[in-house]
Amino acid sequence: MSTNKTILVTGGAGFIGSALVRHLIKNTSHKVINLDKLTYASNLQALKSVSNSPRYIFERADICNGTRLSRILNEHKPDAVIHLAAESHVDRSIDKPAEFIQTNIIGTYTLLDRITSYWSALTGNKHSNFKLLHVSTDEVYGDLPHPDSVKDEASPLPLFTEKSPYAPSSPYSASKASADHIVRAWNRTYGIPTIISNCSNNYGPYQNCEKLIPLMICNAIMRKPLPIYGSGNQIRDWLHVDDHVEALCTVLNKGKIGQTYNIGGNSELRNIDVVNRICDIVDQYVGMPDNVPSRSLITYVADRPGHDLRYAINSNKIRTELGWQPKISFDYGLKETVLWFANNMPNHLKSS
Ligand SMILES: NC(=O)c1ccc[n+]([C@@H]2O[C@H](COP(=O)([O-])OP(=O)(O)OC[C@H]3O[C@@H](n4cnc5c(N)ncnc54)[C@H](O)[C@@H]3O)[C@@H](O)[C@H]2O)c1
Repeated sequence: MSTNKTILVTGGAGFIGSALVRHLIKNTSHKVINLDKLTYASNLQALKSVSNSPRYIFERADICNGTRLSRILNEHKPDAVIHLAAESHVDRSIDKPAEFIQTNIIGTYTLLDRITSYWSALTGNKHSNFKLLHVSTDEVYGDLPHPDSVKDEASPLPLFTEKSPYAPSSPYSASKASADHIVRAWNRTYGIPTIISNCSNNYGPYQNCEKLIPLMICNAIMRKPLPIYGSGNQIRDWLHVDDHVEALCTVLNKGKIGQTYNIGGNSELRNIDVVNRICDIVDQYVGMPDNVPSRSLITYVADRPGHDLRYAINSNKIRTELGWQPKISFDYGLKETVLWFANNMPNHLKSS
């Protein structure tokens, strides 16, 4: 995107959306419209550093409300939309799937429907340069063989590519998979200029404490049990949120319309190993007055139903075609994240 564009970010008060909004305001001259419903998952504190910028505008709105979406699109006339608004927590999707169907599927459909009318009425460069980047997850591909269950240790384990078949396991991933299909269909059928990105697990500052890494950091600091699902051997590929944000900007600027890009950190780890590392960082750098090793807080609990065994991303396409690669190593990013939570957790939580 050339300079001085208007970018509408849906879900800009969430974990990844707020990191994207901060990046766009601090490092570009674009105007940013943040459209967010402000669910429990949002955190306006994450936008404090940019909220006074004259290039930042906040619109509290639900992506399921087509009338509001049309008004916001026609008022601000964005050159691009980056769509992150979603219900995002797998455990919540198992307990209460309805909200995931509503926001992730109906909301994405409503957004596309209103963008179709908005884009059709645009003329000239504004019409021909418009893009919608739909932000999705690697969880749409289901799971991959786990090293513990593979007999032939010599052959490399498979990775998700952009051509992997969709096989979602949870209500969350099924709702994201549906949204991806809807976006692709609106590109093929109505010619809407869309791009899809599928990213691995993110971590970093401001992530909601219900997700694995912040939950373990916060519980370790509060000296609470660290609940590990099943054996803890499930494997995830981890990417720092700032690397994801850079990847999204790269895809928006250089990605080809109608294409999908997988984004990964090349950092596959077992959940138990991630938690052990967090414990060691907390013990070494935060320092707990009781001197009890944080690893002793680890508690194994019943596994999540339908729990995927392994996710791992082949991100050759975005690396070779668009020139993106992650910059933040997991060791460095995890230590920074632990220290961030230690310094930014509300005091009432630290002492509870
Ligand atoms: N967190 C990850 O590891 C990860 C990895 C890959 C892809 N993704 C995708 O990236 C996107 C953002 O993830 P996140 O972790 O920042 O999520 P998040 O839960 O932290 O934030 C979601 C944001 O969307 C907003 N929102 C929810 N429903 C809405 C609605 N109906 N209308 C308007 N706004 C609404 C919430 O208020 C919140 O601010 C999601 O689409 C998610 O599927 C996340």
